[in-house]
Amino acid sequence: MKGIVLAGGHGTRLRPLTHAVSKQLLPIYNKPMVYYPLSVLMLAGIRDVLVISTPGQLELYRALLGDGKRLGMNIDYAGQPEAGGIAEALLIGAKHIGDDDVALVLGDNIFHGPSFSSVLMRHSREVDGCVLFGYPVKDPERYGVGEVDAAGQLVDIVEKPVNPRSNLAITGLYFYDNDVVDIAGELRPSARGELEITDINKVYLRRGKARLVNLGRGFAWLDTGTHDSLLQAGQYVQVLEQRQGVRIACLEEIAFRMNFIDAAACYELGLEFGSSDYGAYLRNIASPEI
Ligand code: G1P
Repeated sequence: MKGIVLAGGHGTRLRPLTHAVSKQLLPIYNKPMVYYPLSVLMLAGIRDVLVISTPGQLELYRALLGDGKRLGMNIDYAGQPEAGGIAEALLIGAKHIGDDDVALVLGDNIFHGPSFSSVLMRHSREVDGCVLFGYPVKDPERYGVGEVDAAGQLVDIVEKPVNPRSNLAITGLYFYDNDVVDIAGELRPSARGELEITDINKVYLRRGKARLVNLGRGFAWLDTGTHDSLLQAGQYVQVLEQRQGVRIACLEEIAFRMNFIDAAACYELGLEFGSSDYGAYLRNIASPEI
């Protein structure tokens, strides 16, 4: 399975923070935001990732993540010049996807919860259609909303409904089979002039091939769209990291735990981070296994 991180947009609601810098490069506590969605792809076992952003910001992403080799990965970059919609990422990434399945994650979505890696691994295996991830929220009207029947089967998806029929937001993580490239190619722009991811999901739904995984209330899917929610997301990470002494979305640790790199390479990366706590953490987790 290939991965795509869509880190586009102009982050207008976060101005002036986003005046010069892409929203997805802003800090969530001790790491850039894009680390979090990238960690989700890695936890699904994906090593081949395309990062899409506005052309002017690509060099910053490249400076941050490089070609991915240090993480045992392959990371590529592509530009999305206009606000063409989330679904456009699948067209921009068509060559990268090739004949494979694809996981698309939005660069500002933060996921954290127990056994998340096993959930991701289980559902990314042999995708037949699409797999969507639902999460109960207080304000579903801000999102794509999934309606499920009594058996928990997805029956409808509505983008930003005025009167939501459920509290289940469709999060910004999507697993697709290879048909998605053709489906994206046939989309027409919506009233707001964008190729809508919800329209893709509805095609799969009509074909009886859209599955919904409810992440449930014990899970955290955090918003980063406003100054307050951005700060709160950082505080969530801070609280858990300080309490447990572990790191959330530490890409180098995940690369090590997923066997993308070995303990010695993880230790080396720890040295690269010099005297920072982050570096010490990496050296600490790697050293018992060298
Ligand atoms: C987009 C999608 C929406 C989804 C949300 C998740 O909304 O259109 O279906 O629930 O991402 O973050 P947007 O961020 O474009 O408002």
